[in-house]
Amino acid sequence: MARMNLAVEHVRRMRGGAQSHLMRCDDGGYYIVKFQNNPQHLRILANEMLATRLAARMGLRVPHIEVVEVRPELIAYSADLVVQFGLGRKPCAAGKQFGSQFPGHPARMAVHDFLPDEELTGVRNFADFLGIFVFDKWTCNTNGRQAIFYRDPDEAPGPASEPAPSPIPAPPARTDAYAALYPAPSGAATAEPYTAMMIDHGFCFNAGEWDFPDAPLRGLYARHRVYRNVQGMESFEPWLGRVEKQMTEAVLGEEAGHIPPEWYGDDWNALERLIERLYARRTRLRELIISARNSGRDPFPNWKVRHA
Ligand SMILES: Nc1ncnc2c1ncn2[C@@H]1O[C@H](COP(=O)(O)OP(=O)(O)OP(=O)(O)O)[C@@H](O)[C@H]1O
Ligand SMILES: [Mg+2]
Repeated sequence: MARMNLAVEHVRRMRGGAQSHLMRCDDGGYYIVKFQNNPQHLRILANEMLATRLAARMGLRVPHIEVVEVRPELIAYSADLVVQFGLGRKPCAAGKQFGSQFPGHPARMAVHDFLPDEELTGVRNFADFLGIFVFDKWTCNTNGRQAIFYRDPDEAPGPASEPAPSPIPAPPARTDAYAALYPAPSGAATAEPYTAMMIDHGFCFNAGEWDFPDAPLRGLYARHRVYRNVQGMESFEPWLGRVEKQMTEAVLGEEAGHIPPEWYGDDWNALERLIERLYARRTRLRELIISARNSGRDPFPNWKVRHA
């Protein structure tokens, strides 16, 4: 394991079933931290680590992730660092926790959980929704697909970001001549487009079960607009190829080696079985995509049927 981040400050509680917390770390970054004693399952942390690393290897935009060390003193001093169960509450666990880095400074960058359809189609990395669908089928993510959206601060200094004193002159206003030289990406004529970042991989491999209960609609993003450009299996091809050809057993084993063993209770056999099943599933991706296509919900209305 490479260096580990130390949590230095609790900022706030996040919404969601894992009861994560926003924390500042000693690398200066801010992380959404999920704790070993979260109400969902211990393996949620292992799943986040393995799945996020695999998605990154597929070339998809995911957060920077780290193991975050949370010391008992910080938990003792931070009244809000508790897990709530029904009527009771318990302090969050100390030790190694999972951290997903906030893509900027939380006070200056607006991060959205949803975008209206008109802005969604203008997202910079819109095609990643096709890639992450392949990924969610592969890993049998049994939670709905989740993404966050933000504008890179240096590209869109909106009201949320402080005007930093800079020797670099501001870019010229979008006059017609300027627009001709630097055309705005289509679908986002009025503002810089958002970037989508794929998050929440705790329920990949079916959360704590580590099995793969495949179902046709599983893995589809709730806003089917993202699949509008799908014309057939070839639309998923770059990501299919990456999983089928690049995710060898050696690669999967190497990525699994980054998971702190306490996140799966030192159950090496279970981890090995998980890796074997993931490896075997590479060959079933096309069949799983076809079952989504034939689900009756018509998620891919522009799929071109080719008659012989
Ligand atoms: N890397 C990140 N950067 C910014 N915000 C994040 C990041 N990761 C998570 N969040 C925010 O924290 C919230 C909770 O994260 P996440 O969805 O991973 O946890 P969860 O508890 O499993 O949620 P749920 O039960 O609602 O699915 C998200 O809705 C999102 O707004
Ligand atoms: Mg979530």
